[in-house]
Amino acid sequence: MQQLTLIRPDDWHLHLRDGALLNSTVPASARVFNRAVIMPNLVPPVTTVAMALDYRQRIMSALPPSMSFEPMMALYLTAETSAAEVAKAASDPHIIGFKLYPSGATTNSAAGVKSVEALAPVLEAMQEHQVPLLVHGEVTDGDIDIFDREKVFIDRHLVPITTQFPALSLVLEHITTGDAVDFVSQANDKVAATITPQHLLMNRNDLLVGGVRPHNYCLPILKRREHQQRLQQAALSGSPKFFLGTDSAPHVKANKETSCGCAGCYSAPAAIELYAEFFSQHDALDKLENFASRFGAEFYGLPLNQQRLTLTRSEWAVPQSLETADGSIVPYYAGQSLQWQLAELG
Ligand code: NCD
Ligand code: ZN
Repeated sequence: MQQLTLIRPDDWHLHLRDGALLNSTVPASARVFNRAVIMPNLVPPVTTVAMALDYRQRIMSALPPSMSFEPMMALYLTAETSAAEVAKAASDPHIIGFKLYPSGATTNSAAGVKSVEALAPVLEAMQEHQVPLLVHGEVTDGDIDIFDREKVFIDRHLVPITTQFPALSLVLEHITTGDAVDFVSQANDKVAATITPQHLLMNRNDLLVGGVRPHNYCLPILKRREHQQRLQQAALSGSPKFFLGTDSAPHVKANKETSCGCAGCYSAPAAIELYAEFFSQHDALDKLENFASRFGAEFYGLPLNQQRLTLTRSEWAVPQSLETADGSIVPYYAGQSLQWQLAELG
């Protein structure tokens, strides 16, 4: 096969940041994706519908007139989030859900949730108004090993939440373990997960063997190969519970290549090509369209995109570095070659 045409895909987990950097990040995603769930971990966090609509406006201002793109805004859940804000979010077509960040779990999560149990009233409201809950599923306790934090979060928090709120739509974001695959597979059809390109293509050896590779450092951290294989099987299974969410999360080079570097991989400049690489490696390119363009939309109850995107088999290399208004950014997979290239969107 030399050419592959898909329904235009969507990215169900994306960090665009803010300010002048939007002039780089928005076109990088809009070149491929029609819709994207925009993560709210700005400083200050995007906690209200009003803030999200302002942020959405700034995103749309950075979109070149020749491109189309629909940001679907996620609000940042805090201990102060009210049932009234949930109702407001439910009635606004630009808001897709609330993102739960355990406080301290990742980049700009200080304002996040310290007690998941205390969220019960707001989760009740989300269930009632059918507003999805998007979850960064890691505990943050100092005594829990970083490689175990996803599993402990599932056991401690997600099993109780899905038992108490069986009609709540819940997306476990950027899953990294076989434990997460099992949890999502065994849960009802209100529960799904996104999978990033880096967790399909890499495991912790790619982070740590032969030297520390800061551009492969993201959270939740890459796990051992057995977990990577479970994620690969989930993506290849054709189960509609597993779909594309890049978690593209740019940080300038100076904040990655340093003594205490930031977590996040900037995958947007090669996102669909990275997923194509993975499916191609497993001789399963026929599974890419459902994963990238159908299952997420169906989960969220949204129509499939009308446009088509064509990839051609033609080797290219991801750029070593990209210049942005905030400084140089090293994209994920920089300098490495990919077999599939974007040819056409229309
Ligand atoms: C994300 C970021 O930089 O905003 N980082 C990451 O490693 N994935 C936050 C997140 O999704 O955890
Ligand atoms: Zn993220």
